[in-house]
Order: sequence, then C-alpha cells, then structure tokens
Amino acid sequence: MTSKTNHLWGGRFNEPTDEFVKIFGASVTFDKVLAFYDIEGSEAHATMLSEIGVLTKEELKQILDGLSAIKDEISNGQFEWSIDLEDVHMNIEARLTELCGLPGKKLHTGRSRNDQVATDIRLYLRDQVQIINNEILRLLNALLDLAEGEKSTIMPGFTHLQAAQPVSFGHHLLAYFEMFKRDHERLEDSYKRINTMPLGAAALAGTSYPINRERTAELLGFERICANSIDAVSDRDFAIEFCSNASLIMMHLSRFSEELILWSSAQFNFVTLPDSFCTGSSIMPQKKNPDVPELVRGKTGRVNGNLIALLTLMKGQPLAYNKDNQEDKEPLFDTVETLQACLRVFGDMVPTIKANTETMRSSTLKGYTTATDLADYLVKKGMPFRDAHDVVGNTVAYAITQSKDLSELSLKELQSFDRTIEADIFDFISLEGSLNARNHLGGTAPEQVSLAIKTARSSLK
Ligand code: ARG
Repeated sequence: MTSKTNHLWGGRFNEPTDEFVKIFGASVTFDKVLAFYDIEGSEAHATMLSEIGVLTKEELKQILDGLSAIKDEISNGQFEWSIDLEDVHMNIEARLTELCGLPGKKLHTGRSRNDQVATDIRLYLRDQVQIINNEILRLLNALLDLAEGEKSTIMPGFTHLQAAQPVSFGHHLLAYFEMFKRDHERLEDSYKRINTMPLGAAALAGTSYPINRERTAELLGFERICANSIDAVSDRDFAIEFCSNASLIMMHLSRFSEELILWSSAQFNFVTLPDSFCTGSSIMPQKKNPDVPELVRGKTGRVNGNLIALLTLMKGQPLAYNKDNQEDKEPLFDTVETLQACLRVFGDMVPTIKANTETMRSSTLKGYTTATDLADYLVKKGMPFRDAHDVVGNTVAYAITQSKDLSELSLKELQSFDRTIEADIFDFISLEGSLNARNHLGGTAPEQVSLAIKTARSSLK
C-alpha cells in the first residue's frame, strides 16, 4: 500500500497535505514532552495485546526492544523529530517501524491516537501533581518553622489595610499555612480523577479485539478505568480541574507575594528579604526590588489565563474527540511549569524571610489597635457594648491629640472617660495583653499559635 501522503493515515488521500497546513496542524514541537509517557503506554498496550494473543511473544519482544532503543535515542538527544509525522505518537510509531519492521505496524491494533493521547496526558499529569504536592509540603513546613520562631512577634492585623488589632506574626503566617494545606488536599483529591485510564476506548466506540483493560490499567498503575469510551476520549475535565487548582494556589501565592512586597518597602519595613532574592535598579542605586514575589504575582495572570483557555476550549465541543483538543497541551504544560517554578522559589525564599520585630511593634502601637480591648473591658464591667464603643471613641480622639497610644495614657486620663476603669486596665490594652486575651482555638494568643503549629505538624505526617 503506497500513498502520496502521510503513510500512517494517507490511504484514502489523493493529494499531499498543504505545506503550511502540515506546520499548522503539527503538535510535535510541544507534545514531545509526553514522549516517555507515550512509550510507557505503548509498552503496556503491547504487553496486553500479546497476552490476549494479538501479538506473538517474539513480536512483543521486538516492540519492547524497539521502544527501549527509542527511549535511549530521545534521552541522548539523537531522536529526529519530524513535523511531517505530526505528533509525538506518530513520530514514535514511525521510528519503531523503522527499527523493527512489521511488529511496529501492529502496535496500534485496538488503539487510536484519541485514547492514546488522553492516556499520555493523564500519565504526565499524575507525575507532575506528585512533584507539585511535594513542593507544597516543603512550603508548608517552611511556613511552620517561620511561624514557630515568630509566634510572639506582634504586628498590626489589618482590615481594609488599616491597622485593626494586634496579631502574632506567627498567626498571620499560619493563615497561609491553612490556604496551602487546603490546596494540597484539593490536589490529593483530584488525583483519583486524573489516575483513571482511557486506553481501550480506541477512537470513541471501543474496539472489536478482546482487549483486557484491567490488565493494561494494572501495568500502568491506574486506579480506575474510564467507564465510558466516548467520555474517555473527549473529556479533559481532569486537566481543567488541575488548572483550576493551580489557579487557586497561584492566587494564594500572589496574596502572600503582595504582602511581602508591601512589607519589604521602606514605608512598612516589616520584613527583610535577602539580597539573593532581590535585584537592584540600573539607575537608582538605593533600590532593592522584591522581584521574586513580584514575578509570582505577575505569573498568576498567565495561570488564570490558561484555565480560561481550557474552559473555553471545551465548552462548545460536541462528543467525542475533536482536533480542538490538541490545544489542551500548551496551556496545561505552561501551568505545570509555572506553578512548579513558583512553588519552588517560594519554598526556597520563605525560610530566608527576616521579621523586623521592632518596626512591627511600633507600627502596632501607632494604630490604636487595642481600642476593642478597652471596649471589651468596659463591657465586662457592665457597660452595654454600644456605649463602650462611644467611650472608647472619645478616648481615642483624646489620645490622638496627645500623640499617645491608649496604653501610654495614664490611669487618671483613662478614668476621666469612665470611672470604672482600674489599674488592671493595662493588662488588657497593652499589646501583649490584647494578644494573650485571644486564647481560644484558632485565636492569636502565642499559646494558641504554639498549639496550632503542633496540630499542623502532626497533620503533615
Ligand atoms: N495530536 C493529537 C492531539 O493532541 C493526537 C490525537 C489526534 N487524533 C486524531 N484523530 N487526529 O489531540
């Protein structure tokens, strides 16, 4: 059988493919990332085919030897990728046939590129999610270590970016621990949906060969098998789910980045980032720019964009496979690479963050952050909260005229606003007093922060 066109599918064609259409339609420039997963899938498929008698033992051996040689060629950079062969699947199959002849041509029995590519992406994503989850774990541990050292460091907690109440810096860091912990859980949960095998669906309807899908799944370590052949080849929701999880992680990294950028400015000066994670300016010699968090914040945009690209890619597609799906790879690969890099750099940077404890403390004293504690004190003495709110408002207005924090007013000054105030008031309106008072599960008292760190550590084991 000869043809004027692609020898893997050109039988019914009379004209060769237009030169630019070839380039336009080829995916090999980017899907070669899947090469080793494609080979892994082929090894399992061929093994199963020989077990059901479609391939002889000898043919299987030749196929496996050929695939092994191809792996070496790819690893050594000797493999010649060809645009003419469109994608990673046909490049490898064509080379296999070159190496071992007839058995190479039999490998594709009972299979289609449609179930093959869906399988490859799942094998790839399975590995990448594990790498990402390990990076998240490293970041979680780094956050716990930093929080441990800073559990008694006092900073202003903000609402509306206005100083609100004193909090422990360790407690603030643990808020990020919680976010990334949920991200980790989400990825773990998504794993079972990624680790489901499409192979056997063939083009869309299944195959007339007596294939053993359970066996192929076992060889490839898949937990489950796609239950419907049409769904198996057309669905990419596992990839979209991953991209959505990635967007959430990037959103969390971006919020953390934003705070680090603010905090490392001369105006805040709450933290110092090491020189090794910053850059200078070519014109302003005084500058030390927080490039790493800025880049992470910036990269969040493209990860969000990739999610929207995939959602839009799928939304109008009729069942089953459509060539549109070739467009799933670049956004997915880009998200994987971007996310891995951002997590890696954060995991490296977090242990190097230095808290400027004195600045954090004096900034907390500036914002009347213990006003609520004064109100709570009056309420405990029997005053209705609304009245207490009013009394404290007047006290704050007075303290502003004196350029003093509430805790810096004398007992006499305080008593001029309410007679019931006694000397113990300073246990409540001092920064430490305010922090220690919030001594309940999930609160900011250093004692609770310690406890939270302990609970968090054991949750990671
Ligand atoms: N390169 C294709 C993709 O990425 C592989 C599947 C092609 N299938 C087909 N029937 N043309 O989706």
